[in-house]
Amino acid sequence: MKLTTTFDGLYLSNPLMPASGPLVGDLEKLLFMREEANCGAVVTKTISTKLPKIPKPCIKAGKNLIMNSELWSEHDYKIWLNDFLPGYQKNNDRPLIISVGYSQEDMEVLIPLLDVYADAFEISTHYVGTDLERIKATVSTIRSHTKKPFYMKISPHLPDPEGFAKVIAEAGANGVVAINSLGPTLNININNRKIEYGADDGYVWTTGPVIKPLALATVYKIKQAAPNLTVIGVGGITSAEDVLEFLLAGASAVQMLSGALLKGKQLYKKIIDDLPKTLDKYGFSSIEEVIETSLKNTVSYDERLPELIEDKCIECMLCVKTCPYFAIAFKDRITFNPDQCFSCGLCVSICPTNAITMEGVGE
Ligand SMILES: Cc1cc2nc3c(=O)[nH]c(=O)nc-3n(C[C@H](O)[C@H](O)[C@H](O)COP(=O)(O)O)c2cc1C
Repeated sequence: MKLTTTFDGLYLSNPLMPASGPLVGDLEKLLFMREEANCGAVVTKTISTKLPKIPKPCIKAGKNLIMNSELWSEHDYKIWLNDFLPGYQKNNDRPLIISVGYSQEDMEVLIPLLDVYADAFEISTHYVGTDLERIKATVSTIRSHTKKPFYMKISPHLPDPEGFAKVIAEAGANGVVAINSLGPTLNININNRKIEYGADDGYVWTTGPVIKPLALATVYKIKQAAPNLTVIGVGGITSAEDVLEFLLAGASAVQMLSGALLKGKQLYKKIIDDLPKTLDKYGFSSIEEVIETSLKNTVSYDERLPELIEDKCIECMLCVKTCPYFAIAFKDRITFNPDQCFSCGLCVSICPTNAITMEGVGE
């Protein structure tokens, strides 16, 4: 089964990379991603000209989410230049995407210095505000210092992803990485009445499975608005199925971080190993075929009744308890009241044994 993906002259043996963050924070970790995780490309922690002041603690796990106030690399850019990057590039067979932040002035300094080690750049816009003119000027500066492909990473607090995509395409970027962490968000400890894990302002940034639908929508919006831009999808991936969803939405490759913080670092290799059987399960013969597939939008306004597949029903009553229209009852078996049913579809998706079907849903 072919797992390769190619874009902007980069060749990836599989579509999964680590997302910028602590798991790619120094040479040891970059090599782990290449040698043990077997990622198709490797991304670095964001390098900037100034050192961050990182509050401790700074990474909290929740149910289906991670909250952090970790900022960018704690290592001086000279350590990256003199130690980590030359070390990584010895015997390297995998594209290295160097993450750089944040301002136009930072780019003036860092892009020329890092260019020799980069197969591509990813530029974080997380702390530069929402002014598209400023982002455009930053893109022009980067382009004036490198011929390598580069991808602008969009944060979800940027209000106009389509406008962002158009502006950066005009100014010479190759694509977008979507999305960075969601926020600002807040973590409260009821026991001690404290805000915990936050930065000076108290806020944390949220990632992991809870942001996946937002990440998918952003990938989709950007690809619709600027089809010639390469999109790299990131946000909430924890399985090979998630990877396929991002590729269907318009991504050419994907990244993951929180999945590994929640489930363990072996998850990179597991997802890559799971890709062939997952492609096969959904009737695809290669990663490229998934990328080339267009999504259908099957919106419908028809009313239709759910139906029960009786031999699958375990009578757990979850559909009865959760139906928002009070339309499901149990009278010897699960029954649907056609006068009350709103055809909302919640029962189909909430049933733990897939015992409820509705025409046009999940087919
Ligand atoms: C602890 C932590 C540190 C992060 N550091 C960076 C960073 O330095 N640069 C960056 O562009 N994104 C950073 N991110 C954002 C991730 O790269 C990624 O965009 C986000 O976590 C969504 O993906 P995920 O749900 O797979 O984690 C960080 C995220 C976390 C959780």
